[in-house]
Amino acid sequence: MTGNDIRQRFLDFFHARGHRIVRSSPLLPANDPTLLFTNAGMNQFKEVFQGLEKREYTRAASSQKCVRAGGKHNDLENVGYTRRHHTFFEMLGNFSFGDYFKADAIAFAWELITKDYGLPKDKLYVTVFREDDEAERLWQEVAGVPKDRIFRLGEKDNFWQMGDTGPCGPCSEIFYDFGPEAGEGAFPENPGERFVEIWNLVFMQYNRDASGAMTPLPRPSIDTGMGLERIAAVLQGKLSNYDTDLIRPIVERAGDLCGVAYGADPRGDTALRINADHARATAFLIHDGILPSNEGRGYVLRKIMRRAMRHARLIGKQEPYLYELTGFVAELMRPGYPELMESAQRVARIVKDEEHRYATTFLVAEKVFNDEIARLSNGTVPGAVSFKLYDTYGLALDEQEDIARERGVHIDTTAFEAEMRLQRERARASWKGGEKGAIAPAYQQLLAKGRTRFLGYDQLDAVSKVTGLLVNQHIVDTLLAHAEGELVLDQTPFYAETGGQIGDRGTLFDAHTGETIAVVEDTRPAVPGLTVHKIRTLAPLHIGDELRAEVAAPERWSTMRNHTATHLLHAALRQVLGPHVKQAGSVVEPPRLRFDSLITPRSIPPRKPKSSVWSTSRFCATPRSPPT
Ligand code: ALA
Repeated sequence: MTGNDIRQRFLDFFHARGHRIVRSSPLLPANDPTLLFTNAGMNQFKEVFQGLEKREYTRAASSQKCVRAGGKHNDLENVGYTRRHHTFFEMLGNFSFGDYFKADAIAFAWELITKDYGLPKDKLYVTVFREDDEAERLWQEVAGVPKDRIFRLGEKDNFWQMGDTGPCGPCSEIFYDFGPEAGEGAFPENPGERFVEIWNLVFMQYNRDASGAMTPLPRPSIDTGMGLERIAAVLQGKLSNYDTDLIRPIVERAGDLCGVAYGADPRGDTALRINADHARATAFLIHDGILPSNEGRGYVLRKIMRRAMRHARLIGKQEPYLYELTGFVAELMRPGYPELMESAQRVARIVKDEEHRYATTFLVAEKVFNDEIARLSNGTVPGAVSFKLYDTYGLALDEQEDIARERGVHIDTTAFEAEMRLQRERARASWKGGEKGAIAPAYQQLLAKGRTRFLGYDQLDAVSKVTGLLVNQHIVDTLLAHAEGELVLDQTPFYAETGGQIGDRGTLFDAHTGETIAVVEDTRPAVPGLTVHKIRTLAPLHIGDELRAEVAAPERWSTMRNHTATHLLHAALRQVLGPHVKQAGSVVEPPRLRFDSLITPRSIPPRKPKSSVWSTSRFCATPRSPPT
């Protein structure tokens, strides 16, 4: 089976078992500042697991593009040196949102790998969380796995969480024995390169908040992840992911371009693997709208690209070439990701620019470094100098160490690391303004009573019933006159601020007497599905009161016009500059709009417009916003 066949077989298997096949979400996580890059199939379903969002399906399956570099799951430094680490990989996953749980998840996984993929059972091992008696029993009952092949492990191995916050739960992993030819290894204490985890089944049960506290999810759910490259290695009889048809052609192409044969020497092989992996990450990240820069996500991308270039340099390739390799990635991945071809030219331009920049800065950096060394009195390069060389001139620490070794000096790496930590913190703070605050339990409680019905698509005034009143995020029964608080209605014409569009303002009247009861100063979604109106009362207000809620219409119309203008501007930018112009955010208010975009720093020649530039609805950051 080719890698493409394996991916398709997985999706077909779950489709036949009632799962909705969902496309991979982009690598740039939508509205999740807690995440650097998409790092697991479950990311796009985070709020569904948390019960904050409902979909029309309760089972889903996907093949998700993932990048694990920077952030919680960071594999960058290992890439190239092992058979299985990647920055970019694809994760096959099936998900249940309060539908099936452990028994079915185990049965599906076992059937797929032993029947459809035909793996011999005697090559498989299973681990469960230390306290999960149920999972241990189900593997025996449902899958017929003998007890002596099931191992209990602790939190480090068998408790999964996507980040410091978010859904999490105990997990169960399936391991494949590659046999003694893969190297030493004893299961489970020391799996080595021989026993390899191929599938992780997470029994999602909790949500961890910013304080570290875990609360049960509304309904137990399933999240699984199987690395496509790993299962391809198993099914194609290869010891290394880099020898599968998904990656090996890229390794070889890198070898051709660098004039080095793969397999000729270990140092060169590592460099070629690094280049193959990093070319995949680069092609996909840039395609998804991330550009090399000095901060945040762009900084990590730049680091990945420079790591590739540096290793290419080490095997003697001085001229730009990574841009050609990213083009090759687009061609190779075309069956699964035809859209990569659309951006191939743009990606190549950006990569080539970065290669030129690296080539010049490297020479400058070397000179600056030599000047610094000449100035040293004690033979130690201070951490701050070394970090500046790294950060400003792009001279990696190991490159510096190489040069330092030749010159007989050494680098204060502890001080360098301290500077690095500070830089990381700065980068993290720039992702999007830090962690999302924890959601107050009062809002959860009100959401549990029912979602707010939004009427504002075609009504700017409506009669509604008061279902919640809050002061300082605590539920109250009454608000006195001249008080400030928050109000929840069973249905509302007020639009809650989302995706840059400002929340509505307006007035609340007694539905029967017409008396003015309160002024609405702002409206926001406290959690998805629950609209909260920030109000100032003129008369007392109680739970159960009936109000006529009236949006300040002229303001709303101005906002709607600016929302329309945002889409028109986006379409125009795409038409003039090209389809790579991606919306990175916007502010839409009555008097103005602001459009944030990611475009390349160099001017791009105009492209012929395609009809798709006008179908902007799919770029709308606020699918639930009023029609414009
Ligand atoms: N989300 C789980 C993982 O990434 C399946 O391993």
